[in-house]
Amino acid sequence: VDDALDDLKSRREEGRSGGGTRRIEAQHRRGKLTARERIDLLFDQGSFEELDPFALHRATEFGLADQRTLGDAVVTGYGKVNGRLTFVYSQDFTVLGGSLSEVVGKKICKAMDLAANSGAPMVGLIDSGGARIQEGVLSLAGYADIFLRNVRSSGVIPQISVILGPAAGGATYSPALTDFIFMVKGTGQMYITGPDVIKAVTGEVVTHEQLGGADSHASRSGVAHYSLDSEETCLGEVRRLLGFLPQNNMEDPPRYDAFDDPTRSDDELLYIIPDNANAHYDMTQIIGHVVDDGDFMQVHEAFARNVIVGFARMDGRSVGVVAQQPSHLAGVLDINASDKAARFVRFCDAFNIPLVTFIDVPGFLPGADQEYGGIIRHGAKLIYAYAEASVPKISVLTRKAYGGAYIVMSSKGLLGDINYAWPTAEIAVMGPEGAVNIIYRDEISSADDPDAIRNQLVQDYADRLVNPYIAASHGLIDDVIDPADTRSKIISALEMLENKREELRNASMGVFHS
Ligand code: COA
Repeated sequence: VDDALDDLKSRREEGRSGGGTRRIEAQHRRGKLTARERIDLLFDQGSFEELDPFALHRATEFGLADQRTLGDAVVTGYGKVNGRLTFVYSQDFTVLGGSLSEVVGKKICKAMDLAANSGAPMVGLIDSGGARIQEGVLSLAGYADIFLRNVRSSGVIPQISVILGPAAGGATYSPALTDFIFMVKGTGQMYITGPDVIKAVTGEVVTHEQLGGADSHASRSGVAHYSLDSEETCLGEVRRLLGFLPQNNMEDPPRYDAFDDPTRSDDELLYIIPDNANAHYDMTQIIGHVVDDGDFMQVHEAFARNVIVGFARMDGRSVGVVAQQPSHLAGVLDINASDKAARFVRFCDAFNIPLVTFIDVPGFLPGADQEYGGIIRHGAKLIYAYAEASVPKISVLTRKAYGGAYIVMSSKGLLGDINYAWPTAEIAVMGPEGAVNIIYRDEISSADDPDAIRNQLVQDYADRLVNPYIAASHGLIDDVIDPADTRSKIISALEMLENKREELRNASMGVFHS
């Protein structure tokens, strides 16, 4: 028995050394951790259980018969993140560049199947030269098997991809099919075709980092949700994100004991919105004052900054927050903001996370670029997402809700459960100036003093229409609340809606018609 145990131990040691000392050192010189060091950072200490450490590829062509490494180019298994079961695959760049062989594909798929069957999140740590060139179509087939599982697990278990090295060509599509993409600056790079191919085909000159680096994808393309400075902070943020999510779509998100008083009122909320209705303010301040302990984890923070989405807790329960950001493009909805918010709303709906929406929206962004880019098609996604979402939907209208954008943002007509407004709220088809110029065009142009009459009409329009009480009189706003009480109002609405079960119902129910 001792001999057999020694043999097991030495095989394990051999597997754990991956591509060997020289390649591990090269990995560290590139500023990257090894597959196993990353796993240690992701999981609670000592909780990782490995699967298939003795797997070997069967390929013999192009000299591969002499290049067999125990476990091949990926480490897979499961462990605990903050005490909760989580699955992982971690590509090992020290073994044939982390390339995806038939066997690597099978190992990853086994872990993905176990994750789906046990209802636990799947995290992919990606650092790979892509399909193993020597294995040809079998390695391409391995990617297809992974994509299929990404799609079939979508909306069933949370899926997270962490880009810690190259991900090129077809390899980018597994991350793209998952819920969240984290990238590390300087080392994580994603593109369909690299700089050399681009230069050969179009003549454009661009570096790897400019083309596919973390900041490019987090701010310009919107492919990545997070761009972090180091692998340590990145994996820490993955742990933090998992803490907001349920294990699967049949569970509610975890509930923690809250230290923040659920009935806390907050007078500072009275002073964040400037007196001038066109002046900017930072909506994250309002969110910070309302949620538990000011702890708000944004998603897609650097992309489409005119809309804010992210996770927070209210009395210990996870909520998904969607909000305009008046300090960026005045909080208008445009193509990217619609895509960003729609995707987030759908994620929350799939995973039983209630939605809290803070609204201050002057409308959709005007412009030929927006129209040609399909703002109609993209804006429709957000309407679809809110209308379809059956999780509790609570909204707080802080200032403007104009035109079509009023309807889009969790309105009563799209089955918002509780719609609050602050006394400063303005709901109208359009702002007073625009409205008066249209409906009083003739009166203004024929007046002796057009400016004076326009100002008076604007004032009159604002007094009559631009307030929350008309909407409240029709039941389209459930209550007009003191901003200081926003936190306690949202928490009691969340409690009231805790057992919400929505059947398809008439959209006008609960709204009075005069
Ligand atoms: N298949 C097989 N082996 C691969 C590979 C692949 N797809 N990608 C990388 N490798 C091997 C390299 O041959 C090298 O082996 P060696 O250490 O025995 O010399 C090792 O992995 C490390 O790669 P290297 O090129 O030295 O690393 P790098 O950091 O300089 O570059 C890449 C990384 C990913 C940019 C580069 O390896 C590359 O372009 N790979 C091919 C990408 C590709 O086109 N994949 C197929 C389509 S998805």
